[in-house]
Amino acid sequence: MFKANVLTIFPEMFPGALGFSLAAKAQSEGKWDINPVDIRNFAVNNYHSVDDTPYGGGAGMIMSPEVLGRAIDAVHTPGTPLIYFSPRGSQLTQQKAKELSCQEEITLLCGRFEGIDERVIEAYNITEISIGDFILSGGELPALVLLDAVIRLLPGVLGSEDSLCEESFENNLLEYPQYTRPQSWRGFEVPEVLLSGHHENIASWRRQKAEEITRIRRPDLWEKYQAEKP
Ligand SMILES: C[S@@+](CC[C@H](N)C(=O)[O-])C[C@H]1O[C@@H](n2cnc3c(N)ncnc32)[C@H](O)[C@@H]1O
Repeated sequence: MFKANVLTIFPEMFPGALGFSLAAKAQSEGKWDINPVDIRNFAVNNYHSVDDTPYGGGAGMIMSPEVLGRAIDAVHTPGTPLIYFSPRGSQLTQQKAKELSCQEEITLLCGRFEGIDERVIEAYNITEISIGDFILSGGELPALVLLDAVIRLLPGVLGSEDSLCEESFENNLLEYPQYTRPQSWRGFEVPEVLLSGHHENIASWRRQKAEEITRIRRPDLWEKYQAEKP
C-alpha cells in the first residue's frame, strides 16, 4: 500500500478531490492511504503559532524551523522521499510521478505564508517540487495534484494498463486526438482512418498526429523525442 503523509495547517483539505472517482475507489480498496497531519499540533507556544517574521525584514511571515522540525520528526520515515512544494523546485513531471508511485511511503510538506525557513530544507535534504511557474497561496493544491498523478499510476488503479502507455509524455510525445460517437457532430467528421478497422494504419496515423502536435506545441519535448527515440 502506498502511504502519503501530508504536513499542512489545513488537514481538512484532504483527501479533498482525491475522495472522488478512481482515487476514492483505490483508497477504499486499500491501494493507497493518506495521513494528513496538522502542523499546528507541533507549535511551541500557547498561541499555536507556526510562523514568524523574516530576518532581514520584508513582507509576510515564514514557517518556523522549530515547529516544522518537530512535525517532520513525528511523521516522516527517514529514507523515504520528503518533498516540499515550492515555486523554486524542479517541475513536477510524469517521470517524477512514476518514480514516486514505486515508493511505499512519501511525506509532503505544504508551505503557507511566504514559505519555510531555509534551514529546514538543508537539514532534511528536502526535495523541492513546483507544479508550474505561478504562485499559489499554499502547497495543499500542489499536494493534491502530485498525489492524483501518482495514485493513477499505482498497480491496479486504472482499468487498462494500455491506457497508461498511450498517454501524453510517454515516449516524450503528447497524445494524438481522440474521438467518440457520433461519427458526425455539427458538421465535424471523425477522421476516415479511425473508421477503417485497419490497426496498422490507425497506429501510424496516431503516431503521425502525436508527432505533429508535439512538434508544434512543445519544441522542448520534440527535441527530447528526437534525441531519445529508438
Ligand atoms: C505564497 S507561496 C510562497 C511563495 C514564495 N514566497 C516564493 O516567492 O517562492 C506559499 C506556499 O505555496 C506553495 N506554492 C505556491 N506556488 C507553488 C507552485 N507553483 N508550486 C508548488 N508549490 C507552490 C509553496 O508551498 C509555498 O511555500
